[in-house]
Amino acid sequence: MKFIFLDTLDSTNLEAFRQIDQGQPVPFWVIAKEQTHGRGRRGRDWISKAGNLFSSGVYQAFDNPQETTKLSFVAAIAIVETLQAYLPPDLISVKWPNDVLVKGEKISGVLLENNGMYVVVGIGINLVSHPDKTKYPATHLLAHITPEKLAGPEPVMTGPDAVLALLAERFTHWYDVFVQQGFTPIRQSWVSKTRNFRGSSVNVHLAKETLKGKIVDLGQNGELQLRLENGTIRDIHTGDIFPVFE
Ligand code: BTN
Repeated sequence: MKFIFLDTLDSTNLEAFRQIDQGQPVPFWVIAKEQTHGRGRRGRDWISKAGNLFSSGVYQAFDNPQETTKLSFVAAIAIVETLQAYLPPDLISVKWPNDVLVKGEKISGVLLENNGMYVVVGIGINLVSHPDKTKYPATHLLAHITPEKLAGPEPVMTGPDAVLALLAERFTHWYDVFVQQGFTPIRQSWVSKTRNFRGSSVNVHLAKETLKGKIVDLGQNGELQLRLENGTIRDIHTGDIFPVFE
């Protein structure tokens, strides 16, 4: 795999598109030490302080853009499997569509952008710090590594470059599974990494409204199927979910 290591960038996703324009063959990954204009989902900023991972993988997109969008689930699975090298698996879970949580707090984000021919999979993982006052509670990897493990003989945290090596390997593995077998194994793996998914009560923040309901399932196209309080089922394609504690 080709890795492009850079110091300060506006955004690794923007750099990935510049590399595409310059003819860089795919697949490849861009990694930056820090970003000045890190971008999040739904037009938000992604605070990008040095020490955390800021990376973008570039792969061949699919003819059908709906298929390409499903790579955000591939990314979430790859992040979980990367974090499992550092943390006990029972601490880690996924939240629709592509957030990864550690002890219920958000540790990473995925921003997928597609120009038709190529897809840029932007992945940020909080390794040594996390921003405060976020809409959803946040955390970082180092906070969950025990002092005993840190003091032990094995290297437990070797920085963003080492984390990316694992992440890129896991993403490529699941990308190939998706190409060869379609969404079924991806959906199955993603659902197996959720906690209390089906039947849980959530608020879903959409652009102009908030819906309350219970999660029915993850649909075959990656949509969240939500049973509203009036009993109807609504398919959600973009939004942010927040648990409701009853
Ligand atoms: C989210 O809002 O949860 C998605 C955040 C995605 C952040 C990553 S960091 C690397 C890549 N470059 C960006 O500008 N954004 C993504």
